[in-house]
Amino acid sequence: MYTLGIETSCDETAASVVKDGSIILSSIISSQVDVHHLYGGVVPEIASRKHIEAIVQVVNSAIEASGITKSEIDSIAVTQGPGLVGALLVGFSYAKALSYALKIPYTGVNHLEGHITSVFLRDSEEPPKFPYVALLVSGGHTSIYYVTSHTEFTVMGQTRDDAAGEAFDKVSKMLNLGYPGGLVIDNLAKQGDPKKIKFPRSWLEKSGFDFSFSGLKSAVRRYLELHEDDLNDQLQDIAAGFQAAVVDVLSYKIINAAVTKKCKDIAVVGGVAANSRLREKVTADALKKGINVHIPPISLCGDNAAMIAAAGFHYLNEGRVSDITDDVYSRAKSPPGQKHR
Ligand code: KG4
Ligand code: ZN
Repeated sequence: MYTLGIETSCDETAASVVKDGSIILSSIISSQVDVHHLYGGVVPEIASRKHIEAIVQVVNSAIEASGITKSEIDSIAVTQGPGLVGALLVGFSYAKALSYALKIPYTGVNHLEGHITSVFLRDSEEPPKFPYVALLVSGGHTSIYYVTSHTEFTVMGQTRDDAAGEAFDKVSKMLNLGYPGGLVIDNLAKQGDPKKIKFPRSWLEKSGFDFSFSGLKSAVRRYLELHEDDLNDQLQDIAAGFQAAVVDVLSYKIINAAVTKKCKDIAVVGGVAANSRLREKVTADALKKGINVHIPPISLCGDNAAMIAAAGFHYLNEGRVSDITDDVYSRAKSPPGQKHR
């Protein structure tokens, strides 16, 4: 089965053709980051307009690069939420129109379920075995899920304030390193000493699975205010110290979730899963406990349409087909596992 995936929930216009929910035939991602960079964050109205400009070209390129023709596509999977309503609307309307024109079914996919499913796209490695626990760390979400099937997810914990990626972005802004901040801080931290400046780890209840990053963000701000005059040669150590504080908590909680649920497999997904220290630490910590770790390649950590096609494939296998009256408003904020159809 060939599924065309379409993703426009935030600042990437993406399309992909995926075979049988796991083999990527093409994946095109057109990023708007250069435009939003000028404003220090995503401007929703600009994002919607940029999606309109890019969508036709991106979808056509994905089909062309896949080696199959438009008439061979069996189904369409499109992000229905969560995300920016105006941005979602562009991809969703386009998918609906294409499904009508090609006379093939389409299904609206939860963006977060897409991220969680991204670990099934690596045909070179063993995918996780159910049940497993997944740490989803992105710009808008930080949560741990207990995953019992391709379409069943239970939230074990989530952030009470900022998302992990949001914390990276805000600290980057404080250091005048621009938006988005994750990769910049990751690179800067490689030249710093993570132990030199000890920022607080917000464990909350240490046995629980909720997160909080706003205290850490304030600690970085206080440090910057106190050392205003001699910051230049400390930037690397600040980045390394901050990143270590985030990563220690993320790694501890996902491993503890696996131990609590007696799972042999964990997945780490979403934009922040690209972080080099997080990848290393979770892998090392899991090894000590005999737990298998599944992290997508960096190209599949950030927003992409292959993960949407993969998740949509499983929806369609369950007969969950969207119809022409569906819209994004009902689902712009919905959590994973909530079945609309
Ligand atoms: O999943 P994603 O592409 O979009 C959302 O659904 O939010 O995640 C974007 C987030 C941003 O906050 C970005 O700063 C962060 O992922 N990010 C990173 C890295 N690369 C991207 N955070 C830490 N280290 C990285 N290498
Ligand atoms: Zn995302």
